[in-house]
Amino acid sequence: MRREPVREYPTVLRSVLVSKHVYREAIDHLAGRVAVDYNDSDESLSGAQLRARLGGKQGAICQLTDRIDAPLLDAVPDVRVVSNIAVGFDNIDVPAATERGVIVTNTPGVLTDTTADLAFALILGAGRRIGESERYLRAGRYTGWRIDLLTGWDVWGATLGIFGMGRIGQAVARRGRGFNMRVLYHDPFRLSDDAERELGIEFAKKEEVLAQADFVTLHCALTAETRHLVGAAELRAMKPTSVLVNTSRGPVVDEAALADALQAGTIAAAGLDVFEREPKIHPKLLACENALLVPHIASATVATRRRMCVMAAENVLAGLAGERPPNIVNPEVLD
Ligand code: GLV
Repeated sequence: MRREPVREYPTVLRSVLVSKHVYREAIDHLAGRVAVDYNDSDESLSGAQLRARLGGKQGAICQLTDRIDAPLLDAVPDVRVVSNIAVGFDNIDVPAATERGVIVTNTPGVLTDTTADLAFALILGAGRRIGESERYLRAGRYTGWRIDLLTGWDVWGATLGIFGMGRIGQAVARRGRGFNMRVLYHDPFRLSDDAERELGIEFAKKEEVLAQADFVTLHCALTAETRHLVGAAELRAMKPTSVLVNTSRGPVVDEAALADALQAGTIAAAGLDVFEREPKIHPKLLACENALLVPHIASATVATRRRMCVMAAENVLAGLAGERPPNIVNPEVLD
């Protein structure tokens, strides 16, 4: 059943759960405007705890580690706004929220360049075997310069294949052009000719991107269509000298198939920021020297994470004030 808008509540009676530790600026932004129940902890609340703490509240500021699904929404009928501190929102059942009249918001834009920087760091790091080289040196194995010591794959002038040409995909394309790369992309929504020209990128079929790219990087949202977008067949279609980079969501890649491909030399290397079952990492991936692995830090600069927290606070306040939040992901809920 759809919920009535929250307008009839006096502002001071509106209350918001902040589900996990955030930058202080977000709490300061909420203070005095709504009552805040702050779980100032790095531990996520369990489903049962979320249900209990959200009871009687109108808003939630949550993170990608919180699962917001239909049974939870049914158990907390006062909630009108769910504000996620992330650009991705696959942790939230958005259709269930929309059906119930619950506004869902995210934090796009502010993290675009920070995330693109990390994707490019993984392109460079996996291509030039930075993680492996550092482990080698720290293990005391560097006994002298050698002509073929830890040789990798050139980034400058190589072909970059991008799946998902939204804001972050475009920011990565710009970096690729800065490295004199030919940039191919695939996306269900092709950009205009003008946009392609301005970015210096070429649209190509999925198979063409896989076959031609030296570096394949993923920048799509996790949906039913993109789950295991890269599996065993796609990895076989890539060059044996190519590198796969994923900063989108773990399940976009079939991790077991990727670990097999890295071990078998089907592709040369991978740079991964996201994993299928975070924080668990597939043991076979951990065993791959040619996998550069980092713990979901693509948007993790102090400035960007601060901005994301404040943006989430602005989104929840706008929704609770009966306004259209600036970053609503289900605008149809207001129709
Ligand atoms: C992080 O993964 C985000 O979606 O912002």
